[in-house]
Amino acid sequence: MNIQDNSRYREVHARSLADPEGFWGEAAREIDWIEPAKKVFDPSLGLYGRWFAGAVVNTCYNALDRHVAGGRADQLALIHDSPLDSGVTKFTYAQLLLEVKTLAAVMADFGVTKGDRVILYMPMVPQAVVAMLACARIGAVHSVVFGGFAAKELATRIEDAKPKLIFSASCGIEPGRVVAYKPLLDEAIRLSSAKPQACIILQRARQACELDSGRDHDWAELRAAAIAAKKSADCVPVLATDPLYILYTSGTTGVPKGVVRDNGGHLVALKWSMFNLYGIKPGEVFWCGSDIGWVVGHSYIVYAPLFHGATSIMYEGKPVGTPDAGAFWRVISEHKAVSLFTAPTAFRAIKKEDPEGKLIRQYDLSAFRTLFLAGERADPPTVQWAEAQLQVPVIDHWWQTETGWCIAGNPVGLGMLPVKHGSPTVPMPGYQVDVVDEAAKPVAAGTMGSIVIRLPLPPACLPTLWEQDARCKEAYFHEFPGYYKTSDAGYKDEDGYVFVMGRTDDIINVAGHRLSTGGMEEILASHPDVAECAVLGIKDAIKGEVPCGFLVLKAGVTRHQADVEKDVVALVREKLGPVAAFKLAIVVGRLPKTRSGKILRGTIKKIADGAPWTMPATIEDPKVLEEIGDALKGRV
Ligand code: COA
Ligand code: AMP
Repeated sequence: MNIQDNSRYREVHARSLADPEGFWGEAAREIDWIEPAKKVFDPSLGLYGRWFAGAVVNTCYNALDRHVAGGRADQLALIHDSPLDSGVTKFTYAQLLLEVKTLAAVMADFGVTKGDRVILYMPMVPQAVVAMLACARIGAVHSVVFGGFAAKELATRIEDAKPKLIFSASCGIEPGRVVAYKPLLDEAIRLSSAKPQACIILQRARQACELDSGRDHDWAELRAAAIAAKKSADCVPVLATDPLYILYTSGTTGVPKGVVRDNGGHLVALKWSMFNLYGIKPGEVFWCGSDIGWVVGHSYIVYAPLFHGATSIMYEGKPVGTPDAGAFWRVISEHKAVSLFTAPTAFRAIKKEDPEGKLIRQYDLSAFRTLFLAGERADPPTVQWAEAQLQVPVIDHWWQTETGWCIAGNPVGLGMLPVKHGSPTVPMPGYQVDVVDEAAKPVAAGTMGSIVIRLPLPPACLPTLWEQDARCKEAYFHEFPGYYKTSDAGYKDEDGYVFVMGRTDDIINVAGHRLSTGGMEEILASHPDVAECAVLGIKDAIKGEVPCGFLVLKAGVTRHQADVEKDVVALVREKLGPVAAFKLAIVVGRLPKTRSGKILRGTIKKIADGAPWTMPATIEDPKVLEEIGDALKGRV
């Protein structure tokens, strides 16, 4: 390997694969266990073995109590910065612990106990962090649903998780519009056959909502009463292998996958990552600019910084427009953040508004050391622009909801390796990343193939899907025996650098948000005038990709094509949510297909992207592609 010799990476990664129990057993010493594991890894349990089986622990204790006891009571744990609403609010570790203990006691009063599920449908407010940690404190399993999803998506998650309690808020705030959450919550509960016993609603000053007298409770009133009564809940011991949370992510159908995260492995891997990967020391300020509805937000807004005794920034705003493209630099300088972790799309948006980086130079960024990017492929021009403007290392790293932390990255704490633009660098400890052909045989360096991870997966990765072991096996472990299938395609170069080029399934990545085109097709197909449809991701200068729907109308439909196009755009927003950014639907006479009837999505995409394409040998009627090209004229 031709990589920098003063990094400890090679030695550390090799050890993690040669002696996983020794490696993770040592990392586990950083965690306060109630009872340590007798066996670091038990291959006889679960779908591919379980980490820290038999150990007893509490995640909230490791995030808060131990830091308060250990001298960080007055250090800031959480800084909430909201240009969209309330400005800056700060919580020390002691203050955050008090909030969490109080809310956990309120939850216990509602009968929530270990193993019960609790859904959060919340905007980016500190109460959401408090609720997540309060669940962890009493062993309840949280499931956070991103606020940009519509009622039907929320309903699917309620149906699957069967929560005893739901936390929500009167509204979310997006630039120029207030998103009333309560009607969406009510509709979701109506649609779901599983009903929560109660909902705890945060009334926001911007827009309050009506509460249902039988079911809904005012968050602030419950909190005030609990504080007056000095209610407080202790940490409940749970097994390391017990679920901490379920996070639903797009699957290859409209039914999302409930990725399960356990307590013990998650604690160990995330704590390890804070210094070794991100180079953060306890006490420093770390900013992850994601949303708590996504895995990146779970791991690096809420859990990892707190496990590490760092200060986490939670940002309710956008990279541009709140109020301008200098927002990120304002936050970094005001709170002295040493690192920012965001999606490349945010930088593309900033670059568009402030190409020369004039706003960057208005702020003191002297404490800022590293920019981390993830969520979608970091395109080299964006990385180069960020490097030139910020004069700090820009580190792309590759992730999935399923893994809970980075699969391949550049380990700052172990000593950075040279950056190669277009590559998230090298596999992290515990990950043996291979690129294989259809027969699961590793291919030569530089050759594209399916990216897979040799089992067992390291700690923090999914042990299973919620109550769906068989679906988990089928989705991830079946096609390439002995491996976890990432559904990403790419290659490794001769230095072992991983290049992640795109998905092998129907998932597209829109502004760093993971969406299933199959799910959108189901929605389009439900329109009474639509006979057939195809949705694919087409290039977008800011969001990376945006969905584009092609519709074939049923014979005899007399409505104007433009009206049907408008209908389906509205339908996706209503059923899936604004997050889909589905704004383009095009009626065509027919769809290009192979002789066996498969829609040629790849070729349509190339035509829409203006990329070079060749006529597929298996096409049924080559003329259809010309028709597609004509239909796209003036639309993209
Ligand atoms: N609640 C309700 N609606 C939401 C929402 C939320 N929490 N988050 C996003 N939306 C809405 C937006 O208002 C937008 O609606 P619109 O169609 O009415 O404009 C739509 O969902 C799409 O949102 P998004 O994809 O976030 O785009 P945007 O236009 O709001 O912002 C950028 C675009 C350019 C600022 C984008 O680059 C960005 O920063 N996205 C977030 C990246 C990220 O955090 N990824 C997570 C993985 S690390
Ligand atoms: P999510 O589960 O929402 O985190 O999305 C995971 C998917 O996003 C991955 O399977 C990749 O397709 C894509 N992705 C995330 N990070 C990167 C990255 N650094 N480079 C390339 N693709 C990425």
